[in-house]
Amino acid sequence: MKILITRKLPEKFINQLSDYKVDMYDSTLEPMPKDLLNKKAKQSDIVITMLSDQIDESFLKENRHLKAIINLAVGYDNIDIDCAHELGIIVCNTPDVLTETTAELAFTLMLTTARRVIEASQMLHNGKWVGWSPYLLAGSDVHHKTVGIFGMGKIGLAFARRCKGFEMNVLYHNRSKSKEAASVNATYVSFEELLEKSDYIICCAPLTESTKGIFNQSAFKKMKKTAYFINIGRGGHVVEHDLLHAIQDGDILGAGLDVYQTEPIDMNHPFLNEPNITMLPHIGSSTTETRDAMIQVCIDNALSIARGKQPKTQIII
Ligand code: DGY
Repeated sequence: MKILITRKLPEKFINQLSDYKVDMYDSTLEPMPKDLLNKKAKQSDIVITMLSDQIDESFLKENRHLKAIINLAVGYDNIDIDCAHELGIIVCNTPDVLTETTAELAFTLMLTTARRVIEASQMLHNGKWVGWSPYLLAGSDVHHKTVGIFGMGKIGLAFARRCKGFEMNVLYHNRSKSKEAASVNATYVSFEELLEKSDYIICCAPLTESTKGIFNQSAFKKMKKTAYFINIGRGGHVVEHDLLHAIQDGDILGAGLDVYQTEPIDMNHPFLNEPNITMLPHIGSSTTETRDAMIQVCIDNALSIARGKQPKTQIII
């Protein structure tokens, strides 16, 4: 059994695979080039992938011998799941272990955006702080405001729990009503109502064909002019050009983003010149504890598959 890993992971995890042949790409930062991944996958049985690896139809068809693709992420929009399913290739992800950490980042991003924390810190570091003034970097309150959660899965629920402490009014929109929403005092509303009533919209949804580009000009126009859009889901939910114009035209106040249409972003990306957009480099689940836990889930899945057992977090469609 040969296991290919597309990024360099700590030895303490790789040691657990000592019964198998492991081929690991030797970079923690750079993704494995696509042609190399394609070539190496041909001699492998299991591939542990990152969300930055595009596992599309042509890759899967060329590598139909693979037993499994194990993605180091809860999101799997980088994998053509239908095609993998048709070819009988198992796909696994890392749910649950990252829920609280990702919700924590979403909440951090909402607060940071509302209170203009990055802008304030930059002003100080750039020597532009000339002293206290009544409206210096005045932001927006978060407490007692209305938050609209788009995507009420586990992360959405964990985010809603945090909103309780800030005595927020919590609305949500989801494909189906959440049974657990009542426990966090969250009220189901239509997508339109979510847009119209929220002071903060938080996108926590997985990217699917039906949510692609859902945050577009028409959606931003329905939002309050004082609202903020926060995205920790996937960049593909957003028409970026429309978001930029919504902020520049005053349709909404600003945005806090952890994810983008193309990652990493180009340094000419127009968002970089827009002070009302707070930008993070896709670090939703990035704490040492959680990344360790996510990698362990991948290793456990690989061991189960190699031993002919059912992996714990196989994606069933
Ligand atoms: C995921 O796991 O899908 C997250 O986006 C990683 O931060």
